[in-house]
Amino acid sequence: MLNYKQELAKKLSNMTNIDVNELESYIEIPPNSELGDYSFPCFRLAKELKKAPPVIANEIKENLGKEEWLEKVEAVGGYLNIFVNKNYMAQNVLEEIIKNKENYGRSNLGEGKKIVIDYSAPNIAKPFHIGHLRSTVIGGALYKMYQFLGYEVIGINHLGDWGMGICRTLAGYKMWKDEYDFSKNPIQSILAIYVRYNQIEKNDPDFKKYAVEELKKLEDGDEETTKLWKWIIKISLEDYQKIYDLIGCKFDSYNGEAFYNDKMDRVIKELEEKNLLVESEGAKVVMMDEDIPPCIILTSAGTTIYATRDLAALLYRIDTYHFDKCLYLVASEQSLHFKQVFETLSKMGYEEYAKRCEHIPFGLILEKDGFTKR
Ligand code: ARG
Repeated sequence: MLNYKQELAKKLSNMTNIDVNELESYIEIPPNSELGDYSFPCFRLAKELKKAPPVIANEIKENLGKEEWLEKVEAVGGYLNIFVNKNYMAQNVLEEIIKNKENYGRSNLGEGKKIVIDYSAPNIAKPFHIGHLRSTVIGGALYKMYQFLGYEVIGINHLGDWGMGICRTLAGYKMWKDEYDFSKNPIQSILAIYVRYNQIEKNDPDFKKYAVEELKKLEDGDEETTKLWKWIIKISLEDYQKIYDLIGCKFDSYNGEAFYNDKMDRVIKELEEKNLLVESEGAKVVMMDEDIPPCIILTSAGTTIYATRDLAALLYRIDTYHFDKCLYLVASEQSLHFKQVFETLSKMGYEEYAKRCEHIPFGLILEKDGFTKR
C-alpha cells in the first residue's frame, strides 16, 4: 500500500533539499481528523530556511503540486494540514486486498522476536468457565495476529492442574465412582462428582480433609492417585480440545501449575539470597513499593501458592524462551496478582524481563443476578 507519510516526505524533501527521513520524522497525525490526516509543523524548518513558519507553510502549499492521492493542503498558522483522498485510498486498499488475499497486512515487524502468550488456562476437573473462553478467544486472536506480523509465538496453556480443586474430585471419585458412568461422557461425571463434593463441604467444612489427604498422596507420588490424576487431566483436555478446535486456537505448551512442582525451590532460594522474604503473620512475603499488599510466597502452613508458581513459571520461561514479551490473558480480578508477581520478579533482579511482562485484563461476566460465578 502507498505509504502516504513517506510520499509526503519525499515531496517536501524535493522542495527543500532537507533529508527525507528527517522530514518524515516531523510529520504528525493531528489529534482531530478535521485538521487533516497528517500535519507538518513548519517551525521545524524555520531556522534552516531562515523564514517564518507561516511563510514556509504557504510556500510549500503553493508549490506542492497535484497528486492523485492528495486531496487538499491547508496552511494554518505555521502548520501544513494534509488531507488524503479517501476514494483513492479506498481503491488502493481494496486492490491490495484482492492482490494479496489472505496475506494482506502480513509483515515481518516481529522478525527475530519471541512472544509468549499465556492464555485459556482452565482449571482441570472444574467446569470450563466463560472467563476461560474469553481468555481463549482473545489469546487465540492475538496468537494469530502476532504470527502474522512475523513474531515467533509460543502459546502456553498454564493449566490449573494442581491443588485442592482437582483433589476434591480425586477424593469424590474414590468414594463414589461406582455410582457414575464414565464410558460415554466421562467429563460430565467428573464434574458431577466435583459439584457433589463441594456441596457436602459447604455444609460440613470438615469434609475438606479427604481432599487434603489426596493432595498429600499426590505430593508423595502415590501411584494409584497419580494415575487417576493423570486420567482426569486427560479427559478434561479431550473435552477442552473440542472448544479449541472450534475456535482454531493452538498451544505450543500445556505446562500447567503441576509442571512447576519441582521448580519452586529455586524461587524461594533466589528470594532468600536477595533478602526479599519477610515474615508476616506467619507467612513469608515480599513487600511491594507501591501502596499494594505484599506478595505472599509461602503461606503460614509453609506451602507455596499461585504467585509462587507464576514466579517459577516466569523463571522457566525466561530460561527456555528468552522472550521479548510475555502476555497474560486473564480476567481483571487478577490484576493485583500480576502486579505483585511482576514487581517481585523485578526485585529478584530480572527488571528487564519484568518490563516485558504484561497482563491483558478483561472484565468479568455477570450472571443474571449480577454476580460472577466461578
Ligand atoms: N487457572 C487460572 C484461573 O482460572 C488462570 C491462570 C492464568 N495464567 C497464569 N499464569 N496465572 O484463574
